[in-house]
Amino acid sequence: MNKSPDAIRPHGPAAKTLHWGFIAVFLYALSKQLDDLEELADRALLQYEMVFASAFLVLLVARFWYMRTRNASALPAAAPKRIRIASQIVHLGMYFCLAMIPLTGLGIGGLYWSGIQAADWMAGLLLAHEIFANTVLFLICAHIAAAFYHRKCRDGVWNSMVPFLREPRE
Ligand code: HEM
Ligand code: HEM
Repeated sequence: MNKSPDAIRPHGPAAKTLHWGFIAVFLYALSKQLDDLEELADRALLQYEMVFASAFLVLLVARFWYMRTRNASALPAAAPKRIRIASQIVHLGMYFCLAMIPLTGLGIGGLYWSGIQAADWMAGLLLAHEIFANTVLFLICAHIAAAFYHRKCRDGVWNSMVPFLREPRE
């Protein structure tokens, strides 16, 4: 896998903006996370959460569509099959969890809005919301660890997306 970092085509400015801009939006969403269902009694907050979750979902779908149709992975063609599969699993897993968090959130908000707060559906959605939120954090840690692994391999994957701590030349 040792290929010169310069031999890999870097992701373009749009892909980089989507990657790093989305991280800022995600960190903002985490900083605003709710601690308790009863906080939704504040109708303005409930409305805000619903609008934000919808916008987050639209942005995520746009990002997914752009990356899948216009931007191939920077993984070298010679990368072992297990690395390709692991990378796909983690990337698709992140997209799936990042979509399920706002979707379950919209479900929670919808049920709360219609006054169904004690039903099993609400308990199930709250549990799913929590599981997807925790799973995505785990996947992001794996993703960042993998990015550092590529940096160590100096195969150009790190440099293709990350503008800091550039891969050292051999
Ligand atoms: C310091 C932190 C991070 C580093 C160094 C990093 C690095 C990278 C690199 C090098 C790639 C390109 C992989 C390739 O071309 O195959 C990539 C893609 C990706 N990153 Fe990150 N990343 C970081 C944080 C995050 C976070 C926090 C998220 C999620 C919120 C994320 C989500 C993604 C996704 C979904 C892709 C795949 C894009 C696609 O092919 O659709 N990254 N990242
Ligand atoms: C992009 C949108 C969203 C993100 C990133 C997000 C993220 C999170 C996170 C990280 C938690 C903490 C989970 C844990 O306890 O480990 C949480 C909890 C919670 N979220 Fe969201 N959320 C989003 C949208 C929504 C929406 C739209 C609603 C409802 C209107 C909602 C309602 C709640 C509630 C009620 C809790 C507390 C659950 C409990 O009682 O433990 N969230 N959210």
